[in-house]
Amino acid sequence: MRIKISLIPANSHRPSSPAITPKPPPPTHFPKCPPMSPFTDLTTPSHPAAPHQSRRRKTNFKIGNLRLSPNILRRVHLRAIAPSRSLLPTQTPSPYFQTKPPNPHQTPKTHTPSTLTHKRTHSQPQQHPIDHFPTPAYLYSSAALSRKTIMPTASPCAIVIFGASGDLAQRKLIPALYEMAREKLLSDHAYIVGFARSPMSDEQYRKESYDAVMKFARTKPVDETILKSLINRLHYFQGDYGSTDVHQKLSETLTAYDDQYGNNEKNRLFYLSTPPSTFEPIITCLGQRAMDPKTNPQSRFKRLIIEKPFGTDLATAKALNALIHKYFDENQVFRIDHYLGKETVQNLMVMRFANSIFEPIWNYKYIDHVQITVSESLGVGSRGGYYDKSGATRDMIQNHIFQLMALVAMEPPAALDAISIRDEKTKVYKSVRPIRPEQVDSYTVRGQYTAGEWAGQKSAGYLKEKDVPADSRTETFAALKLYIDNWRWSGMPFYIRTGKFLEQKLSEVVVRFRSPPQTLFQKQCESPVYPNDLVIKIAPEEGISWRLNGKVPGGTMNIKSVALDFLYKTAFKVEAPEAYERLIYDAMTGDQTLFIRGDEAEAAWAVIDPIEQGWRESKRLPDPYAPGSWGPKRSLDLIEHDGRRWMQSKDGESEPIVACSL
Ligand code: BG6
Repeated sequence: MRIKISLIPANSHRPSSPAITPKPPPPTHFPKCPPMSPFTDLTTPSHPAAPHQSRRRKTNFKIGNLRLSPNILRRVHLRAIAPSRSLLPTQTPSPYFQTKPPNPHQTPKTHTPSTLTHKRTHSQPQQHPIDHFPTPAYLYSSAALSRKTIMPTASPCAIVIFGASGDLAQRKLIPALYEMAREKLLSDHAYIVGFARSPMSDEQYRKESYDAVMKFARTKPVDETILKSLINRLHYFQGDYGSTDVHQKLSETLTAYDDQYGNNEKNRLFYLSTPPSTFEPIITCLGQRAMDPKTNPQSRFKRLIIEKPFGTDLATAKALNALIHKYFDENQVFRIDHYLGKETVQNLMVMRFANSIFEPIWNYKYIDHVQITVSESLGVGSRGGYYDKSGATRDMIQNHIFQLMALVAMEPPAALDAISIRDEKTKVYKSVRPIRPEQVDSYTVRGQYTAGEWAGQKSAGYLKEKDVPADSRTETFAALKLYIDNWRWSGMPFYIRTGKFLEQKLSEVVVRFRSPPQTLFQKQCESPVYPNDLVIKIAPEEGISWRLNGKVPGGTMNIKSVALDFLYKTAFKVEAPEAYERLIYDAMTGDQTLFIRGDEAEAAWAVIDPIEQGWRESKRLPDPYAPGSWGPKRSLDLIEHDGRRWMQSKDGESEPIVACSL
């Protein structure tokens, strides 16, 4: 878990001379604070102190054993993105963690040794490593206060990427490791071994990786010194994923590199960026060799990152979990969903739980419905082979979209730790009202794109794509209407849709509030006054937009929907890190908050399975839709028959000015 500290200029809150500061008038009332939330635990007292009460309130601020005076708090604004476990209330371990006796090689409970080097340049010597996450005493030392953010360099480790020559490794993983090296988050003693089946020399692999960083790095121009230093720590390892002999050789090779690069703790991070069919042989061989407690018994950590898809249904996800748990403890396993690494997705929790305005209205009483759209403007391109076995629902809904839905719908977690947050998300999936196979035609729509050209890509139609069978019924578009049967969301629909070759690339969550009661404007306007929307923009724009009603200037009382926008790029003026940078770093530091827990993946599949079954049994074929449209007509009907409409849809008119005769 990680805490960021940002400094608020001391003098922006503190008068330069107390003598000339007018005494504030005694307050007539004090604003109410949100209830204790995971954020308020760490940053604020449960009730705000009136200025004249600050002396009495002083003792209310506590982190661990450290008492913090309001003066310090005024200068330091703690941004608790992922707090240290030591700062959190002790949690009862979820039963999910009690499936196996403790393994001596499991992830240590505390943070791994880290070096606080965020502001250090490469040439400076490393500072003394600290064994745990910075203590409160450290956080408030002058050294810490002089930093804008604290992100300790992760411990040295061997990073083994299975599927090294694949697209993901070259486009995302190696560039992410470069960015981490640039930000001093990757240890100079970490090294990378790319493992794949095709033969390649170290030199070729280094050249490919160099080119990949030059092309895909998030920050340009690329710092050649840092890149070369990283490239020099890159090796290629060729072999059969399912051979224990090869894995034995891999283990020996890693031990030799440990000495060469100074990975004294023999830490291991295995990244499975391979097709799902290879998971079983790789995990088995890792379990029998590198993960065997007898191999490098002194290793501080050995962890596994697994790319999606995690299974293809509930049964396969369970089988995969069972295989993993044969060799790994759950706290060594990092099931990745890159959506959770996106800043805007993480901001969903901050928005909900660090702002008191939302909680009272965040339920079916005030919200009419939630709609989630994750659309892409390109077709499947060359990925037909993979995609046809997956389809839009397994590829996007079971993971990315469900994560968005869970973050919108979940209850406030008891704390910001991996157990509490993942417990709450799992409860959301378990509360989804099942769509029975015979109900799929009423609650779901699936589609397939036809021939056409859009966004510079031409296609003869999905059924003609490379590696796609001509009679495929795989959906390239899916829309669902779901209900979450709990007290908060009772009877309120969540509409979700995703697809390839749609009008635009867009990921957004729209929370549409109920209309104002039928009074005042409603009575006198020609058409109903539009309800408010909270639009959470994930991509390509990143931010939040509140749509409110405003009076159009002029003599008549005309009303128009206007937006209050918060956009990341203008509000913070910093570029957000790529999802993979954050996620690889978290895996290295042992923070599982932004990864999917095994039972969470299973609960999500339990929602999808009956839908897939219904589609298999249904006589209805996927509805055709043209590239560049918003999907099949039935997906518009799915929501419009309920008297609602998608926020983005070509056929829907934009909301006009509402004319009122007052
Ligand atoms: C991947 C899917 O997980 O997410 C792809 O397999 C999809 O089919 C991609 O294109 C979308 O990710 P993003 O971050 O571009 O929205």
